[in-house]
Amino acid sequence: MKKKLNIAVVGMCFGSEFVPIYQAHPDVSNVAIVDCDKQILDQTASKFNVESAYLSLDDVLKDPSFDAVHLVTPIGYHASQSIAVLKSGKHCACTIPMGLSFEEIENIIIATRESGKKYMMMETAVYTREYLYVKDLYEKGELGKIQYARCAHYQDMEYWPKYWAGFPPLMHPTHAVAPCLALLNKRPNKVFGVGSGSMRKELVENYGNPFPFEAAFIMLDDSDVCIEVERFMFEVARDYTECFHIYGSKSSFEWQQIEDELPVVYRFLESDGRRGLPTISERINVPDYAYRLPEPIQKFTQNFEYTNVRTSQTYLAGGGHGGSHPHLVHEFVRSIIEDRRPAVDEITAAYWTGVGICAHMSAMEGGRVVDVPYFEKM
Ligand SMILES: NC(=O)c1ccc[n+]([C@@H]2O[C@H](COP(=O)([O-])OP(=O)(O)OC[C@H]3O[C@@H](n4cnc5c(N)ncnc54)[C@H](O)[C@@H]3O)[C@@H](O)[C@H]2O)c1
Repeated sequence: MKKKLNIAVVGMCFGSEFVPIYQAHPDVSNVAIVDCDKQILDQTASKFNVESAYLSLDDVLKDPSFDAVHLVTPIGYHASQSIAVLKSGKHCACTIPMGLSFEEIENIIIATRESGKKYMMMETAVYTREYLYVKDLYEKGELGKIQYARCAHYQDMEYWPKYWAGFPPLMHPTHAVAPCLALLNKRPNKVFGVGSGSMRKELVENYGNPFPFEAAFIMLDDSDVCIEVERFMFEVARDYTECFHIYGSKSSFEWQQIEDELPVVYRFLESDGRRGLPTISERINVPDYAYRLPEPIQKFTQNFEYTNVRTSQTYLAGGGHGGSHPHLVHEFVRSIIEDRRPAVDEITAAYWTGVGICAHMSAMEGGRVVDVPYFEKM
């Protein structure tokens, strides 16, 4: 019987959502937290009764009792911190994106290979209820042959931390594109990207990116299917969505236009043996997939009232990003315990992140079709 894992979660803004899930996971023993902001660190430690709290990741990396680290820090740190974690001999989970350049991605792949440890990119979009539902439909043959996939991440990031200001939209592609690439399960090989619109000068200066909105078409090896992806970050009046639409020969799935509506499945009527018009269109209450998780973390797929056992204070917890968080934690933990590749390993993460880097490159070069580099499993 393998020992339980000791895990540190780094970055206590979004990252704090994962702390109680690791604490409740049956294969996890000690959960530590790290944040360079003392106030945030202390507040989170008190909220979740965490005894091991550190101001620096280095302190965790030096401590051999930790098996794994989950990074939820700002985008510019992902690559250097992932490499440091792997080089210290610990397994690494990191939020999206994997890195900001092909050099960073390659260096993480090398560090994963040389350390023999697991790397997982914690992409929420492939563990939402909607994605798990569509994956089920596809695997049961109910979509038929996929003919086209379209996806988008619309989010105005004007008032987000400063490092986002002017960020190239498709350099942050994974929430949009991951469900389509995961479902089609083929290597992306070519990307045609375009930039659209214009934005304030001070936004352009930060990253040398002139575009508030980018779109791209992605082609795949051994497939006649094309994926269309859109992302905007600034100066576009549209509410938040991370959505995907899958068009199949038997049925199609479309994400809801407004977040609190329900998605739609369109089905051909074939009762008389002939293909008719798509006469059935049905709004779907997608099921919850908590039953796939160990009992103690099932509740985290939905919003619930978390009670601090020491202070009796209550907080709203769980349910974030389509119920995906406990699925991500479980997959990362089990990949370590079972000594297997995690579902979103370093190669998968490299492609999901890399298509966006290619798309922005293409957009900046007036729509030159860019070849996606090969990332090899070793
Ligand atoms: N759906 C998703 O997967 C999803 C959702 C939200 C955010 N994210 C990702 O999570 C990351 C964090 O997002 P956020 O909104 O919480 O960011 P944030 O900038 O609001 O918070 C980051 C936290 O990390 C701490 N921090 C910064 N540098 C650190 C360092 N070197 N060592 C230790 N702590 C450090 C900060 O003090 C802060 O508490 C981003 O990369 C973002 O892309 C992913």
